[in-house]
Amino acid sequence: MPSLATVRQSNANFSPPTPPVAIFLGGTSGIGQGTAQAFARHTKGNAHIIIIGRNRVAAEAIVETFPKAPGSKYEFVYCDASLIRNVAQTTSALISRLPKVNYMVLTSGGLPSLWDMVRGVQHPTEEGLDNLLAIVYYARTKFILDLLPLLQKAKDAGEDSRVLTVAAAGHGGPINYNDMGLKKTYSVRTVRPTMVTYVDMAMETFSQSLALRVPGATFTHIYPGAVSTPLFPRWTRPLADLLATSIDDCGEYMLYALLNGGEGAQRKGEHGDDLGPESYHGGDEVRDRVWTHTMEVFDRALVAAGSAKSGVNV
Ligand SMILES: NC(=O)c1ccc[n+]([C@@H]2O[C@H](COP(=O)([O-])OP(=O)(O)OC[C@H]3O[C@@H](n4cnc5c(N)ncnc54)[C@H](OP(=O)(O)O)[C@@H]3O)[C@@H](O)[C@H]2O)c1
Repeated sequence: MPSLATVRQSNANFSPPTPPVAIFLGGTSGIGQGTAQAFARHTKGNAHIIIIGRNRVAAEAIVETFPKAPGSKYEFVYCDASLIRNVAQTTSALISRLPKVNYMVLTSGGLPSLWDMVRGVQHPTEEGLDNLLAIVYYARTKFILDLLPLLQKAKDAGEDSRVLTVAAAGHGGPINYNDMGLKKTYSVRTVRPTMVTYVDMAMETFSQSLALRVPGATFTHIYPGAVSTPLFPRWTRPLADLLATSIDDCGEYMLYALLNGGEGAQRKGEHGDDLGPESYHGGDEVRDRVWTHTMEVFDRALVAAGSAKSGVNV
């Protein structure tokens, strides 16, 4: 596992041939913020960086910290990603105006109250999805799915196309085929393991399915370890600042994980180390079932919104 000094040095050597386009869903706070700042720092402002989330004020303050170069392009795009129809609108606007996407970092997330989790109390979105599953799994998957053509354009130009989704690789669990949306079995013991295996399966689908594959692209699922971010209640932050990784250091590790690693699906630990089969609960049948379920969720949400269906069969 590389040291922080090695990671920083490697990131400092990052020198893309043309200004890259990078999207940070969840870049308004915490790990996404730290990674966006590391990306801006190491590209020295020669990049088009798009921060997506709900908090415009936070995004503008973060952009203020980025170095400025003549070709710098920084923007905030509002999207409440808890609804699939919002994600679809945002991605179709991006598709219509961006020439390519080289990098996507997805960190949208939240922490439901422990009391609700213990009691199995869910907070469904208007589309009937569990809110946490919606922002950590369904929304991120929809973003990647819709923006594959832009990742392909980067590859066609001989450039990087790399996706990093930050959740909890290595902490997955088995899937319950009878309750894929966790409507009956939602609990503190089911939600994270299920979500983590879903993310693993989506990353594999993006790298293996002939209908979706961007040859040469990398799809990494990473566990960042404990990071001191606003995800945790304010009263825990002094302790977290002492014991957990800072946003800045985590951003360097996440950037390293984004930029390194071979093509295809990758599962990585907190310092970018390869997890191998650790706590892996996937396989061909699981991948097929998870993808079918995911497409059904997208189709239901978009049909209800009067939009076209996802239209992607694997
Ligand atoms: N921090 C840790 O120790 C740790 C450990 C393991 C895994 N993780 C995972 O890493 C991810 C990022 O965590 P973090 O610590 O960086 O959390 P954070 O500081 O709370 O950031 C969460 C991000 O998610 C965005 N978000 C939340 N709801 C959204 C919505 N409806 N639509 C669009 N964006 C939304 C927020 O943006 P807006 O408010 O602008 O919408 C914010 O940028 C989470 O999935 C978390 O579970 C974190």
